[in-house]
Amino acid sequence: MYLMNALRGFVMPYLALINLLSSPTMDQQDGVAYYSPTDRGGSMLINAGNGYGEPINVIISGLSSPHVLTLDGAINFARAIGFSEECFGLHLGGYMSANLGDGNGWVNQTIELRQDYGNAGIGTCLESLVGGNHFRIFVQNGTTADSGALFLAVSREEPITEDHDVVPDGYNIGRNQLVSVAVGKTWYNGVKYHTVAQNTTGLLKAGADGVNHGIAQDGIVALLTVTIY
Ligand SMILES: *[C@@H]1O[C@H](CO)[C@@H](O)[C@H](O)[C@H]1NC(C)=O
Ligand SMILES: *[C@@H]1O[C@H](CO)[C@@H](O)[C@H](O)[C@H]1NC(C)=O
Ligand SMILES: *[C@@H]1O[C@H](CO)[C@@H](O)[C@H](O)[C@H]1NC(C)=O
Repeated sequence: MYLMNALRGFVMPYLALINLLSSPTMDQQDGVAYYSPTDRGGSMLINAGNGYGEPINVIISGLSSPHVLTLDGAINFARAIGFSEECFGLHLGGYMSANLGDGNGWVNQTIELRQDYGNAGIGTCLESLVGGNHFRIFVQNGTTADSGALFLAVSREEPITEDHDVVPDGYNIGRNQLVSVAVGKTWYNGVKYHTVAQNTTGLLKAGADGVNHGIAQDGIVALLTVTIY
């Protein structure tokens, strides 16, 4: 009896964890890292609404742990790497849409997250004031390219006084900052992540052609594989 209870006490937390990890994903994954949007009529530039686009410069691989690819899971991972939802749920930027070539056409961002300056509660308000890194998430989950991957358009912004413009070289800087904090071991709220980054070229065209604010970027897309351990 004692042994059974002891055993149960030992096993239950693991069962709870397994339950957490297998919570419903945003979609069914196809078992691939991602599909190239441009090969399927989509674009690696999101629509900024003014005739220009902002580059998708980070992809969270569809081969990441399933929980990471859920909305709650993505938010938790974002918190682990120093980002959070927008200031008191106030949406301070405009909506932008992406076409990931998955059959869903142009779809608005799922969520926008901002650097939280070490405070998941009010830090993002500070980001809105002083500027900092931020990203929008788009999910490749349409039926014709259902990788489940998260496509991120990352950029470093000017303070609010500058109308949330992107700083010079802000697409490359934003991506590099996010990747450098994500790589290796991170954790938030009891969930531990191990993240590996790989640079990919050929998905996104380098340069400033059609890019919002006329800011050139190097065409590198960082592929992150995030594993919960
Ligand atoms: C794709 O993901 C979005 C964002 O989470 C969600 O609103 C939508 O229902 C998902 N679509 C499918 C087909 O799973
Ligand atoms: C994005 O959301 C805005 C605000 O709700 C809406 O006006 C716009 O039509 C949406 N765009 C797309 C592509 O769904
Ligand atoms: C990816 O490219 C960036 C920009 O050139 C570079 O700083 C970074 O070290 C590269 N990362 C890897 C894993 O090769």
